[in-house]
Amino acid sequence: MQDSFNYDELVDYLNELARAYYTLDQPLASDAEYDRLYRELEGMEEAQPLAIRPDSPTQRVGDVALSGFTQIEHELPMLSLSNAFTDTEVEDFYKRCQEGLGTDGDVQICAEYKLDGVAASILYENGVLVRAATRGDGQTGEDITSNVKTIKNVPLRLLGDSIPARLEVRGEVVMPKRGFEAYNDRARELGEKTFVNPRNAAAGSLRQLDPRLTAKRPLAFYAYSVGVYSDEFVVSSHYDLLLGLESFGFTINHATAKCTGIDELKAFYERTLSQRDDLIFDIDGIVYKVDSFSQQTTLGFIARAPRWAIARKFPAQEETTTLLDIEFQVGRTGALTPVARLEPVFVGGVTVSNATLHNMDEIERLGIHIGDRVVIRRAGDVIPQVAAAAAPLHGERGAVPELPTHCPVCGSPVERDPNFAVARCIGGVACKAQRKAALIHFASRKAFDIEGLGDKLVAALVDADKLHSFADIFRLTIDDIASLDRMGLKSATKVVNAIDVAREVTLARFIYALGIREVGEATALSLANYFGDLASLLAADRELLLKIPDVGQIVANHIVDFFSLPATRQLIDDLLGVDIQIAEQAKLEEVETPLENLTIVLTGTLSTMSRSDAKAKLQRLGAKVSGSVSAKTDVLYAGENAGSKLTKAQQLGVEVRDESQLIELFGEYGV
Ligand code: IVH
Repeated sequence: MQDSFNYDELVDYLNELARAYYTLDQPLASDAEYDRLYRELEGMEEAQPLAIRPDSPTQRVGDVALSGFTQIEHELPMLSLSNAFTDTEVEDFYKRCQEGLGTDGDVQICAEYKLDGVAASILYENGVLVRAATRGDGQTGEDITSNVKTIKNVPLRLLGDSIPARLEVRGEVVMPKRGFEAYNDRARELGEKTFVNPRNAAAGSLRQLDPRLTAKRPLAFYAYSVGVYSDEFVVSSHYDLLLGLESFGFTINHATAKCTGIDELKAFYERTLSQRDDLIFDIDGIVYKVDSFSQQTTLGFIARAPRWAIARKFPAQEETTTLLDIEFQVGRTGALTPVARLEPVFVGGVTVSNATLHNMDEIERLGIHIGDRVVIRRAGDVIPQVAAAAAPLHGERGAVPELPTHCPVCGSPVERDPNFAVARCIGGVACKAQRKAALIHFASRKAFDIEGLGDKLVAALVDADKLHSFADIFRLTIDDIASLDRMGLKSATKVVNAIDVAREVTLARFIYALGIREVGEATALSLANYFGDLASLLAADRELLLKIPDVGQIVANHIVDFFSLPATRQLIDDLLGVDIQIAEQAKLEEVETPLENLTIVLTGTLSTMSRSDAKAKLQRLGAKVSGSVSAKTDVLYAGENAGSKLTKAQQLGVEVRDESQLIELFGEYGV
């Protein structure tokens, strides 16, 4: 049936597919199907170029680079918002609204996200996108029509039957966090310029003279108001306006809530602040807007900001401070990581005095000198990063940091493959830093999961000469631990008990614990599933390893190299000589994969198992276990204190089950 589409039907159908994918997050067709139909459309348009519709999906991708941006005067100025930084300032705003409206009763206020991106205005005439502009100075912006057309969730033609003759939609162009991280990771790999934050990334992408480049950036548009519009569009409140815009095909923010009374305004702020890190895009606060348009008109404007709205800002996630020095930390695989020592600065809710610099290439790319002013970014749980550097305000710039020729911990030579960014200490387990890191990894939650044996205790035991190898862990006595500074008998006993519990381990955890380069939790599980026991893995050659779905050339080489080292063999023999039991694992071929094709998310605290064990079991049964809820999620298993993922699943109508159902599922399949 699809093969008999005529041109108009094909344009409409492809637009519907794109909307389902980008705006509704509910794909209706496979990527391959979309691509096939898109090519068919291209073919039709090549044959009949004069008939090309302006809202054809092919018209999103501009093909001419501009030499500069044309200025566009806004018919209605694009205003800004006044800011509030405290609860009191929000209370004052609310009181001003009450006074201005001559009431001491409740005023209905819409609370919504303040998206941290770039404002844009998009004009539609008779339903067709004709022009888009930046905010500029509020009076005059720049023509970014070709670039805005490339944003996948911006409708090229408005949906619905009653479309106004003219409608100017305003909103924010953002780059979602994941797209931003991916973009920067790639830029780092290529040695190109990175963006300081998603806002700069969105701004930089929109101001590309070549729309083909903009098209490659993962941008999204969220509508939050209108500029000019013709009379046929009748709405009387901000909330209804948003619903109207949504019906025309725009993405709006579903967290937007109607609030009455100051307590609800504060509650929205607190709730949003606690969810901030889980959102897919950056927000720098929330915006309160009086809902009723007639009340907005009564309240009017002061200078260039409305009296009927205010932005309540969140604590900043970026701050500037001074780079005091750069030190090199040695990791588990000997990799030297430069760490910036900073003049302490309060950012993202904590005081930061260290930030990672990744590797020498990063230092070079950022052009850092000791003593520079540096921008520190700390968003969510992500470790603080140095996002940019500049010469200090006063005085000369300091030295350019250099890679040490010898390991700062053990003095072994440092080697750097000219093709890779990473430099390594070649000391191996002879290097105390590597030994400590390897032992910490071995005892960590996803490995042997030894409670209480964390970074500090491992370091103290290594320094006290009580811990040299993995096997030594299982020989530790209460005395060994209790004799350390600041360790009592009680906590020492606890650790030794935890070590005893950890003597029984799954093969997957055992493999993961060894700390083979590039062998993470998932690869360790694939290896365990494939080989079933340790001896078979030890005997495997490169060719055999390459048969495992998760294992590529690089990983196979790391595994073979690791097991062929005499030191590794010694380490494993030693481990097998102490009292530990590695549970045999049923080989994957013998296990059913009844959950194949299911995408499952785990959230909250499980009381009978760890989340990583539950994840491993679900994966063994063939499920894809994802970290975030989307319309593609099939089931969410929610433990105690589930938070925003549960809310999102409920909003999206995703099936939610509890821990008892998870236990039942595992029981049913005997895992
Ligand atoms: S309303 C008259 N709503 O914040 C009201 N602005 O200074 C004008 N922004 O650059 C703006 N999220 O791009 C409004 N939900 C939201 C917003 C929002 C982000 C940006 C806007 C402007 C700045 C306001």
